[in-house]
Amino acid sequence: MNNIADIHCHILPYVDDGASVAAESEALVEAGYASGVRTICCTPHLRRGMFETPDETIQEQFEKLKERTLAAAYPEEIKLFLSREYHADRLLLQRLEKDAILPLGLGKYLLLEFSNAHPLADIHWFIKTVLDAGYTPLIAHAERYRVLWDSPDLTEELIDLGAKIQMNSSSILGREGRHQASYCKKLLKRQLVSVVASDAHDTEIRVPELDLAAAHLTRKFGEDYAEALLVQNPLEILGL
Ligand SMILES: [Fe+2]
Repeated sequence: MNNIADIHCHILPYVDDGASVAAESEALVEAGYASGVRTICCTPHLRRGMFETPDETIQEQFEKLKERTLAAAYPEEIKLFLSREYHADRLLLQRLEKDAILPLGLGKYLLLEFSNAHPLADIHWFIKTVLDAGYTPLIAHAERYRVLWDSPDLTEELIDLGAKIQMNSSSILGREGRHQASYCKKLLKRQLVSVVASDAHDTEIRVPELDLAAAHLTRKFGEDYAEALLVQNPLEILGL
């Protein structure tokens, strides 16, 4: 697959716990390109008390990465977009109130992250609140939240509320342990997942390996669903 859209990754330098320096950013773009990625939406964390880098700083780093990517003159174009991974907290609520959201691409989706401290009722509440504000939440790495592990029905309820589900390639490939991998399998079997993305942070441990994910998904769940997860759905979410 050589037209993958990776819409969850931390490849901008100096803004969160992702790429630490500009050279690492460039290496991540290169690794993404080699794994078939042609569209990237950078999603630096926004989380109260942990990652509060302002949008303006992020925008500056994004422009620099765009310039460097262009200068690298890849044989095929790499389209770059900028959004954020919004943690479900008070900072997100403030941004929604001020309508100061950086959506995923040109559409009205936002990447919404929870922690294991969020009870299910809070997850439902945040999904409804985001929807009421006019955005569709794409739930970041839904396989990580223990409160959903009891049954895929709990994830289906989030979809019924209006959310979409994103999964990390590393979880599908078993890098995050057997439990997460088997949960991913259950959700994928029921086609409850809309997007698979890298959530890449660095070139050593949390690396972009969407080519491996594409091969795995094609083998286990068929070419059509694999294409939908890695190409069609993410592009549609970006409004392309
Ligand atoms: Fe992330």
